[in-house]
Amino acid sequence: MMTVGLDALSFDIPQNYINLIDLAQARGVDPGKYTSGLGQREMAVSSPCEDPVTLAAGAGRRALRNFDIDPNQIGLVIVGTETGIDHSKPVSIYVHELLGLPQYCRAFEVKHACYGAMAGLSMATHWIQSGKAKGRAALVIASDIARYGLNSAGEPTQGAGAVAMIISENPRLLEFDVRNEGYYSKQVMDFWRPNYSKEAVVDGHYSISCYLEALTGSYQTYKQNFISSSSYLGHSGHSGARFLDRFAACLYHVPFVKMAQKAHQRLLEADACIAFEKGSPQMQAAVSDFLARVSPSLELNARVGNIYTGSLFLSLLNFLEDHSDLATGSPISLFGYGSGCAAEFMSAVVLEGASSLMKQHSFRKILSHRKQIDIPTYEKLILASAQADLNNTEVCKPELWNIQNPILYLGTRDHKRQYTTSSSS
Ligand code: HMG
Repeated sequence: MMTVGLDALSFDIPQNYINLIDLAQARGVDPGKYTSGLGQREMAVSSPCEDPVTLAAGAGRRALRNFDIDPNQIGLVIVGTETGIDHSKPVSIYVHELLGLPQYCRAFEVKHACYGAMAGLSMATHWIQSGKAKGRAALVIASDIARYGLNSAGEPTQGAGAVAMIISENPRLLEFDVRNEGYYSKQVMDFWRPNYSKEAVVDGHYSISCYLEALTGSYQTYKQNFISSSSYLGHSGHSGARFLDRFAACLYHVPFVKMAQKAHQRLLEADACIAFEKGSPQMQAAVSDFLARVSPSLELNARVGNIYTGSLFLSLLNFLEDHSDLATGSPISLFGYGSGCAAEFMSAVVLEGASSLMKQHSFRKILSHRKQIDIPTYEKLILASAQADLNNTEVCKPELWNIQNPILYLGTRDHKRQYTTSSSS
């Protein structure tokens, strides 16, 4: 069977961020709620000149350049986003132009809340596996700006950014397990964004239970598929061992860091067929296991916030750079969730040299170029960004906000979005 996997991975984030302790103080909330209760430290804040197109193109450009891939090799570009910039025109076609991709290339956008990019990744994998790619690669980009509104319960779980992945038959980072996947779909009203609103509507606590139900559903299906397609006898050779232990690391969709902890506990409970009681030895063991196999890959999520479709892949990027050298040849799990809802559980094997390739363009260097802003400036940016898609608006002037990114959104003139790009990155 043909090998398919991840050959390149990079990301882009807005120039500005806030510290969540500052936000907590401004909102009169105990900072411990945001930092320890939700597990977040910082939050990326976009300006009117940064939109899902500029972030997606920024991430795509980095993935191509950092991994030395000729844009002419790309035969498929899929952008997963729930921050649509037009009811008809997709983000992907602007990205196609900004990256100079060939015309003999399919380009489209996928929307299903945070699941869009995971769906794109599966589609790209199947395209290559089918043989139709004929040696070409697929560029899958997750790009979003998460907005719940000032002073809302969701406010500390906002964020913005994009992750770009290049999928090919000669991967350097991960090889996907194309035989085993677990899916889950169910119509639920946990989170959505009506056409008239730039901000999401969310039933926060219900969304957590929908996420956990979808996680259990897709994990159980993956597990059944895996067991029926192999002579699996348990991780350590006996059928009583925990199935989850076959993964060196477990990566989840991360709307906020604490959610990944709840998710990991839920899978350990699913393997044990019981719910752990607070303070029980099983609960303590679940926390230790989370600290060993999940938490080390969550720094980027804690410092960027929820980037919706890309949140799982931020965690993957963090894992590959920091921890994959200890996991070479081992499987890791990936769980994608999109509200509404759709979920997918899949796995991949870490390839030799992945960590050193990722370290050549460390995510910490990109983070170190950001600028910390205060809460009044953050509030001004949020209010101005709400005007950014209006025709002939004046708010999209980079000099107004001191934005110096190589790819910029300059507003909409004559109902047409305007972008500018310089060659530096
Ligand atoms: P909330 O009601 O303000 O917070 O909203 P809370 O009262 O539930 O507190 C949060 C945690 O902080 C709790 O921990 C508290 O105990 C703790 P837990 O019990 O859950 O372990 N806490 C403290 N800890 C330390 N010191 C303190 C303190 N005070 C409280 N002083 C909520 C929280 C997440 C609901 C809200 O921010 C929200 O609505 N966020 C948006 C929705 C969301 O992120 N949902 C996640 C699942 S759905 C999903 O992932 C899909 C999504 O990404 C979108 C998509 O698919 O497109 C959102």
